[in-house]
Amino acid sequence: MNVSTFSASAADIRFRLLAGGLARLSAWRLTSLALLLPCSLLLALTLHGCDRQGPADEERVTLVFKHGKIAGDAAAFTEVLKQFERENPDIRIRDETLPATTDQQHQFYVINLEGKSSDFDVFSMDVIWVPELARAGWLMDLTHMLPPEERSNFFPGPMEAVTYEGRVYAVPWYIDAGVLYYRSDLLEEYGFQPPTTWQELVRQASAIVRDRPDLYGFIWQGKQYEGLICNALEYMWSNGGDVVRNGTVLINSPENREALSFMSRLISEEEITPAFVTTAIEETTRHIFGNGKAVFMRNWPYAWNIFERPGSQVRGKVGVALLPSFSGHEPASTLGGWQLGINKYSRHPKEAERFIEFLTSYETQKRVALTIGYKPTRKSLYRDAELMSAQPFIVSLYDVFEHARPRPVTPYYMMISQILQPEFSAILSRIKKPEAALRSAEKQIQHVLRAEE
Ligand code: GLC
Repeated sequence: MNVSTFSASAADIRFRLLAGGLARLSAWRLTSLALLLPCSLLLALTLHGCDRQGPADEERVTLVFKHGKIAGDAAAFTEVLKQFERENPDIRIRDETLPATTDQQHQFYVINLEGKSSDFDVFSMDVIWVPELARAGWLMDLTHMLPPEERSNFFPGPMEAVTYEGRVYAVPWYIDAGVLYYRSDLLEEYGFQPPTTWQELVRQASAIVRDRPDLYGFIWQGKQYEGLICNALEYMWSNGGDVVRNGTVLINSPENREALSFMSRLISEEEITPAFVTTAIEETTRHIFGNGKAVFMRNWPYAWNIFERPGSQVRGKVGVALLPSFSGHEPASTLGGWQLGINKYSRHPKEAERFIEFLTSYETQKRVALTIGYKPTRKSLYRDAELMSAQPFIVSLYDVFEHARPRPVTPYYMMISQILQPEFSAILSRIKKPEAALRSAEKQIQHVLRAEE
């Protein structure tokens, strides 16, 4: 039941009580009206007073909401939660944040769900986790929340990610795809257009940092964690490579070897990427670019709102473009994003559904896009006049999101990622040659997929 029906029926009941009471008064009793009326009014006012304060604290359900740290304006998110509480006076939200990296969050959920913990109700899941958690039986089935006719309102990638064996286990909350940020003022000064090939990006960045040694040419996420997989896939895919296709492990291909060796040379030979990227996550690079210290950065779209905030050192100087590709190939963006699901052990699934409905609604997705910069999973928002005028580049993101490439959609994805992370990291730090690293990854992934059969 939503709040408006709740308060409408309460008001209705109060009205009927009062009206019914008056109707039953016979004429001779009307003389007592002078006495009764103030009492009825008093009763009505008392009831009204209760309504305004909402249910007593002990009658309210507390929902624990777990999610990763909000990048940027966390206060704006607190306001969104307060709005939900105002509209749903019978529910209180306890907002609990986890560390920023997806890997740490995944570990938290696996440990707690394995232990059948009911300490949290609603939680946000990376686009790569749903099949694994659904298969383990840790998620409520939410198919009824997204009937087939509703599903086409969402981008296809996240919709596929939340579906496991024909059932829907989460509702897409916000969408991500890798994009290239560039300093539009610097590119203009040097007469460059945003690069469309990786080689062109190297040429432009080298030319600018030759003149401006105080700047880094190109920064990205190279720490040994999930973000490195997202970055590396973009080089591999944009060189025609892949990890697995139709059950066949394709990781040890010339295209992938070339792509990963290029990635490592950005640091060691081209020197446009500083060695510290091998410890950098999204927020590390966002801070550096936001302080005006880099020409190019690969990141997710959330950073744009932060760069455009009043007081930002790069306000009005940032452009966003498709990631480049290797010559003769199509560019590729890794699909990212977060989905909201309900813990199978939650004691408040009905209230949890109302909360998810609120957070994934058109209005809330719009508000979060305008304030925090998380990009809506509902396609119609990319035609919303207010959003388009506040964030003109959102229109161009539509195509990027529609075509962003998912990481392998399988309950065993995290095992594949755990295999790839140290191998890719070893390539970047030049501990292993791409050939050796990919050969080892190939054997291990084949082993995992064989075990799956
Ligand atoms: C972002 C993406 C997520 C990805 C992660 C990697 O949070 O939304 O899908 O796995 O970055 O760091």
